[in-house]
Amino acid sequence: MKEQLNSLRASTIKLVAEIVDPKALNETRTKILGRKGELTAILRGLKDVPIEERSAVGQLANEIKTELETEFDRKETRLREDLERAQLALESIDVTLPGRRTLLGRSHILNRVTQELVEVFSGLGFQLAEGPEVEIDYYNFEALNMPKNHPARDMQDTFYFSENVLLRTHTSPVQIRTMEKRQPPVRVICPGKVYRRDADVTHSPMFMQIEGLWVDKRVSFSDLKGVLTAFTRDYFGEKLGLRFRPSFFPFTEPSAEVDIQCVICGGSGCRTCSFTGWLEILGAGMVDPALYKFVNYDPEIYSGFAFGLGIERVAMLKYGIPDIRLFYENDIRFLSQF
Ligand code: DAH
Repeated sequence: MKEQLNSLRASTIKLVAEIVDPKALNETRTKILGRKGELTAILRGLKDVPIEERSAVGQLANEIKTELETEFDRKETRLREDLERAQLALESIDVTLPGRRTLLGRSHILNRVTQELVEVFSGLGFQLAEGPEVEIDYYNFEALNMPKNHPARDMQDTFYFSENVLLRTHTSPVQIRTMEKRQPPVRVICPGKVYRRDADVTHSPMFMQIEGLWVDKRVSFSDLKGVLTAFTRDYFGEKLGLRFRPSFFPFTEPSAEVDIQCVICGGSGCRTCSFTGWLEILGAGMVDPALYKFVNYDPEIYSGFAFGLGIERVAMLKYGIPDIRLFYENDIRFLSQF
């Protein structure tokens, strides 16, 4: 019986050493030390042991039982510690790892160009003015000398909320809103988003413009030329020439379209300028006296000029961007270059 006990002891110690799973450990403990376990089974034979050896065998059995219990307890603790350590390793912060860089946001290139343009015109004495993107027919068309059924409306089809409420097609309505509120001298610059029912390679249904307006006594076409020349020099550089071509807008008379010498080839002709050497950047003209009736300015006393410039166009020329859609695709690889 002693042998049985010793062999159970040895085999159990070996078994426990090999166990790696708490559940298996528990099952083994029941199988060996439990009420119906192997040790109990051996001890059933105690009654057959000669009486004089019985207490010694009993003592041995108790010692082994205690020893094995300790063995199971110790293993259980070790397994629990291993598990905790493994979990900690998963959750803990490795301070030796390289840090994760925070991505810094930046202004969109079109907002930056807008900012730059506003700064240039501020330097020429223009103040910032703004108007709503959801506009009424009166400001977007009517008071700009484009009555209902005027053919010039065709080029500016837009998104309507109702017959009289629409997304503005240009920043020109801010001219009327400003003149309604203020008496001359008025010298403002009005940047913002505008909308048209247009979408192709060179047109986006939402785009940006910047409007300029200067009304005072004796403001003339040469002031317009002076301001635009100063702007071009400041923003695009000293050498580029400026060209005024006669044009038509319902809200200016006379009207002009203004080209700058091609920023890519400097005027010698390239693909960007279709080998003309010139690029159109804005529309402009002397404010049509018809507008003064809508805002109660006296056309005998005041005169002024206005211009409207496409911000995407300017940004494309300034930074050599070939496609207008790049501005609105939200591709970080493109946007983070600026
Ligand atoms: N509003 C015109 C457009 O979007 C651009 C324009 C032309 C604005 C002449 C002006 C101007 O102020 O004088 O097509």
